[in-house]
Amino acid sequence: MSRIVKIFDTTLRDGEQSPGCSMNLKEKLEMAKQLERLRIDVIEAGFAIASPGDFESVQLVANEIKNATVASLARSTEKDITTAYEALKGAVNPRIHYFLATSDIHMEYKLRMSPEAVLEKAIAMAKFARNLCGEVEFSAEDASRTRPEFLYQVLEGVINEGVTIVNVPDTVGYTTPGEYFKFIEGIRNNVPNIDKATISVHVHDDLGLGVANSLAAVQAGAGQVECTVNGIGERAGNAALEEIVMALKTRYDVYQVDTNIDTTQIYRSSRLLSKLTGVRVQPNKAIVGENAFAHESGIHQHGMMANKETYEIMTPESIGLKENKMVLGKHSGKHAFVDKLASLGYTLSDDEVLDLFDQFKVLADKKKVISDKDILALVEQKQLAIPEVYSLDRFVISTGNTISTAATIRLRKNGDLIEGVSLADGPISAGFKAIGELVDCGELTLIDYGVTAVTDGTDAQGEAQVKISDGTHVYHGRGLSTDIIDASLKAYVDAVNQMLYIQETQTSEAQ
Ligand code: KIV
Ligand code: ZN
Repeated sequence: MSRIVKIFDTTLRDGEQSPGCSMNLKEKLEMAKQLERLRIDVIEAGFAIASPGDFESVQLVANEIKNATVASLARSTEKDITTAYEALKGAVNPRIHYFLATSDIHMEYKLRMSPEAVLEKAIAMAKFARNLCGEVEFSAEDASRTRPEFLYQVLEGVINEGVTIVNVPDTVGYTTPGEYFKFIEGIRNNVPNIDKATISVHVHDDLGLGVANSLAAVQAGAGQVECTVNGIGERAGNAALEEIVMALKTRYDVYQVDTNIDTTQIYRSSRLLSKLTGVRVQPNKAIVGENAFAHESGIHQHGMMANKETYEIMTPESIGLKENKMVLGKHSGKHAFVDKLASLGYTLSDDEVLDLFDQFKVLADKKKVISDKDILALVEQKQLAIPEVYSLDRFVISTGNTISTAATIRLRKNGDLIEGVSLADGPISAGFKAIGELVDCGELTLIDYGVTAVTDGTDAQGEAQVKISDGTHVYHGRGLSTDIIDASLKAYVDAVNQMLYIQETQTSEAQ
């Protein structure tokens, strides 16, 4: 039987703390549920002490996720570790993940601690954390730039106190595959009690070597790899989960290890994360980029027709890219719809199904073929819904290439109707301007806007993303419709609702 390498996902912690990738509570829970469908071994749900919002999201994920270990990050203080444990208490398998830097440069300039004090603290916190929680992981921050002899001492000390996972990150993305291989080998050969712990790696991508370094570490015997969906994370990001998992699967002949991941959930996980954060993946991104399985040149297409393996080293199906088309129309029953939801991994309440089924029928009136992606878009839209202060009631936009565009927008505000008109150069800017004036939330700046088609075809649903700023924060809204102007206006209104929701929840947290 081959060795299983555990996959530790830190999309909700290291990923979420990177610019433009923040998520609200509901969004984090949706992502965690998708990670559970992906069969991730460990979900790092956040950094519980960072803010009341972080605490709440770690707690929610810990309470809801049943089939993965849930971890919270903590610095090496009793308060951090206790807070992490408090947030994790409801988890089926909780794990405290505490860290302390061990490189000379971090100890001297960041921690202002001597190596002796760092060693003592790492060991004391191991003891403290193990008294609270059955499973504890220790990370030696900046391990790849740490003096090996000192690192061996620290790892031995924390393992003696019951730490069972020792993570040795390449925090600044500095190492190279050959060097990291030897580094892991060194740990295996020089830490006397290393057989009582799993070696974990966590690699940043500053030199574009994150995945290669992680794979080299696996070859050297690492038993856990930390990574993020789409490779999001601090600076240049973390090693990309989908690339590591598919490299291990596709080149099993080289690595001879398995993971527990259901690779057919990879594409969906990538897509959901992009939707939640509004950060799209580059078209040529390995595994999940739009062009990753597109064969454009004639020679390649010819080869593919003769035998797919001429140019295809893995199938789109293996990452869940090709989907079943489900042709449902007005006359299709709720039963088939519920079956489809179940096959996509959703079990919803009767009320939720009824509501979604109504939306599905409206869509079926407009589109001939309803695919899995259409259904997913509807479900995600519903599950991510937040309390709506404003909603789009109706709009009329007159536009042309020789006149100014006029947008008349009617919104519903807590049940009341409010209407306004604005002129601008195009339909989207006129519509956004009218909404901005109607909502009376001060100066709002449009930071980012885009529309993507959920499926192919001229009748496809458009998914619009809008990011606005009130001068202090950026808020991200989404809208879905077969009409892209409708989708865009809904996305702007959603961004305003997100802003009010976040402001409201932050105020109640502060009280
Ligand atoms: O990059 C890093 O070193 C980290 C640790 C806190 C695990 O994120
Ligand atoms: Zn990191």
